[in-house]
Amino acid sequence: MGQYLDTYKQSLNDASKFWLQQAKDVQWTRFPTVGVNTENSPFNTWFADGEINACYNALDHHVANGRAEQAAIVYDSPVTQTQRTLSYAQLLDEVSRFAGVLKNLGVSKGDRVLIYMPMVPDAVVAVLATARLGAVHSVVFGGFAAKELAVRIDDSTPKVIVAASCGIEPSRLVEYKPLLDEAIDVAEHKVAHTVILQREQCQASMIDGRDHDWASAMQSATPADCVPVKSTDPLYILYTSGTTGQPKGVVRDTGGSVVSLKWSMKAVYDTDPGDVYWAASDIGWVVGHSYIIYGPLFQGCTTILYEGKPVGTPDAGAYWRVIEEHQVKVLFTAPTAFRAIKKDDPSGALIKDYDLSSFKTLFLAGERCDPDTLSWAQEQLQRPVIDHWWQTETGWAICANCMGLETLPVKAGSPTVPVPGYALDVLDDSGTPMARGEIGSLVIKLPLPPGTFPNLWNAPDRYLSSYFHRFDGYYDTGDAGYIDDDGYVYVMARTDDVINVAGHRLSTGAMEEVLAGHPDVAECAVLGVADELKGQLPLGLVILNGGCERDHDDIAAELVARVREHIGPVAAFRSVAVVARLPKTRSGKILRATIRSMADRVAWKMPATIEDPAVLDEIQQALSALGYAGDADA
Ligand code: COA
Ligand code: AMP
Repeated sequence: MGQYLDTYKQSLNDASKFWLQQAKDVQWTRFPTVGVNTENSPFNTWFADGEINACYNALDHHVANGRAEQAAIVYDSPVTQTQRTLSYAQLLDEVSRFAGVLKNLGVSKGDRVLIYMPMVPDAVVAVLATARLGAVHSVVFGGFAAKELAVRIDDSTPKVIVAASCGIEPSRLVEYKPLLDEAIDVAEHKVAHTVILQREQCQASMIDGRDHDWASAMQSATPADCVPVKSTDPLYILYTSGTTGQPKGVVRDTGGSVVSLKWSMKAVYDTDPGDVYWAASDIGWVVGHSYIIYGPLFQGCTTILYEGKPVGTPDAGAYWRVIEEHQVKVLFTAPTAFRAIKKDDPSGALIKDYDLSSFKTLFLAGERCDPDTLSWAQEQLQRPVIDHWWQTETGWAICANCMGLETLPVKAGSPTVPVPGYALDVLDDSGTPMARGEIGSLVIKLPLPPGTFPNLWNAPDRYLSSYFHRFDGYYDTGDAGYIDDDGYVYVMARTDDVINVAGHRLSTGAMEEVLAGHPDVAECAVLGVADELKGQLPLGLVILNGGCERDHDDIAAELVARVREHIGPVAAFRSVAVVARLPKTRSGKILRATIRSMADRVAWKMPATIEDPAVLDEIQQALSALGYAGDADA
């Protein structure tokens, strides 16, 4: 571990020196003299006296330095059968004009712009135009329901909302505008303006005075210039699931993001300017922010914007087609996508139909990469398959095999080693470091590196209590795992109520709140059970109010519809059973881990603290009826 270990040590020995050195690789309007400021830890700041614009680093700099004609975005949309390439010069032109549209609607530095759009180039235009004005974007994933959108509108209080008329899922057209109208109605914060991109697949009805048509607004727009902001000013807010129904607004600062993402494009992903980089995710997730939009553009790469799925659009060869057609060097996706491909094409026959000579490395993240998926991908692709671990909160990888520094041997089940900048440790509940090989809480010693999250939007107390109270001087990742004798990290499970469904992070607590809101439900529990394709799926158990005589199947169907309506289809909530009682400890805590083990058919022990062991027989029956069944006491 020569080059990696040297860099890792340098990054921790003198973090400010290390990152100020990396800061020279990006464009500032005022270069910072300070690295990290820890006076008000954990509210640490990076490059506090620096001044910068993220859009300038993504576009103007490249146009001015020889990349004007290079493709910035290749939009590949099997669901609409279209492709479009935008050069850096074309993208800059569209972004400047859309920044003019936003400016005309009153958006200026620090204002929020909420973006609710599918995977179309205009979504990237909206994001970069917001950043160009020094305003703050908040992108909301299209698979969320109107109520989730309303919560985000109220929390981020945007001046303008930018949306599209529809998204296109393989099985259906998702009309965004009615969802947006409902969300604006429900929200307390009243938005004065929206800009609506009318897609040809669906014309949204417009409200006079409030809704502006994207195309006509662009025609008359005056291009707007970059507005420099303080390095510490927010670039964006991205909401993610926490323990409760109220999502957490993760804030990303500007200077730290530009520096860390640019650095990671070489150090972690080994890409150079001009390379084609493809993160097959969605701009509504952190992967989309960091590695569909910002990282590749900061690095002068071509980024692929793929509006499709790994399977079914039209088949399990879709990823290989895109790699061949656009000469992709690096693909980044979630293990669930590979499980879907493997299921449809177990022998990898479709891979042989394509020329993958441009393809160098596959990166996986978003959920634990099971060794079966890893070895299948390795065998089929005959290329390095790199699992790496990160979170919305960190914005970029905590652990990885840093391909641009040094290629370390891959160990199945491990995202390899901590990335430079992250002082990772494993602690027990009392805060004592665990021995090598022992599972505990994965924590990062403060300060966190640049590009992570300096705060939660409107919620500094929650920032402290969710992440920094449990272990003094550390950031608590919410993941549990261990480090082996070679220093390799293993991320095993969440320590909170967050589950991971097809690489999407969801809160069981939020689903419980929705179930509890049903008039017939007295009590409930939602847990994540293992699923071969999606990694985990939510499973609900509910107790009905005394005297409720209604048909249980009817109630279950209403509960499924309710989660879909309140949280969205992305929750994939389909299994729910009515039970008479829930297993609890004598102090009244629901024994979720035991229920989960029963559903997952893994060995479990009768908890010593259980109030009434007989309840477990009833739960076993309910799980069997849903197609899940556990072995008895093992
Ligand atoms: N807008 C509206 N609805 C959306 C949506 C969007 N942007 N994205 C997903 N949905 C809907 C889907 O239509 C589906 O609805 P349905 O219940 O009516 O079928 C539901 O949300 C679940 O979608 P999805 O998670 O995509 O599951 P799937 O069964 O359709 O496909 C996979 C399974 C594995 C193919 C798919 O999850 C996938 O491609 N995953 C890739 C992983 C990924 O991108 N992870 C992001 C982090 S890196
Ligand atoms: P998100 O914030 O949506 O990116 O989800 C972050 C969570 O996904 C992490 O806290 C982990 O629980 C999980 N996760 C992401 N990547 C990995 C990985 N490579 N291995 C294990 N878990 C992962």
